[in-house]
Amino acid sequence: MRIPFIAGNWKMNLNNNEAIKFIQDMSFKFENRNNIKIAICPPFTSLRSAVIVVEDEIAKNEGFKIMVGAQNMYFEESGAYTGEVSPGMLKSLGIEYVIIGHSERRELFGETDESVNNKIKAALKHEIKPILCVGETLKIREEGNAVSYTLNQIRKDLKDISKSEVSSLTIAYEPIWAIGTGKNATPQDANEMCKAIRGEIRKIYDNGISENLIIQYGGSVKPSNIKELMAMPDIDGALVGGASIKVDDFLAIINY
Ligand code: PGA
Repeated sequence: MRIPFIAGNWKMNLNNNEAIKFIQDMSFKFENRNNIKIAICPPFTSLRSAVIVVEDEIAKNEGFKIMVGAQNMYFEESGAYTGEVSPGMLKSLGIEYVIIGHSERRELFGETDESVNNKIKAALKHEIKPILCVGETLKIREEGNAVSYTLNQIRKDLKDISKSEVSSLTIAYEPIWAIGTGKNATPQDANEMCKAIRGEIRKIYDNGISENLIIQYGGSVKPSNIKELMAMPDIDGALVGGASIKVDDFLAIINY
């Protein structure tokens, strides 16, 4: 039984004060849903506050249960890497998840499958659960190569990661052409890719791991399309960008 998992990727939005207010508002309006996992991934500058405020709100409001993730990290433990943040630093803040390989990092900041692979290994070593993002560009989809491209990313990104390590991984299928564009993949197309990803995980690992793997869809997820996406058999959750920084929209998505 796969528990649905909705994560909010705030990207470079909301400063520290806005993050605190967001979490307090969210807790105030939260309706208890036991059968769902929820995470928010604020920028580094509000992670510490987010963890503290989430703990405070959980103490006050029994039904409120969300987790905090980061949007990126470096794979080394420490050293001369100006501007980077290590997995140990995230772990010491109480961070449970980290998004790895988001297409914006791949396209704008030179992230490669090799660095993604190193980051996943480093996160797993520190028991931070990675949310691995994969997905094709519009050009690749139009050429008919979306599935082979995305599965190739998975093979490279998970290279030399063992069965025992991979069980805490989440995969987010995010077609690049659907991110921030308002154009979401049809639930059928999104499901077809998520099913292919599950099949690839079965090939690399085994049936048990692939059946338990949480696969999210991401790309213009909003209150109006979440229900039909979540109704698909191989879509277990969503990685939400733009709609995750508005409390009411994010709650509507969670309460699909
Ligand atoms: P979007 O972003 O929901 O704004 O399309 C999704 C993402 O990039 O994770």
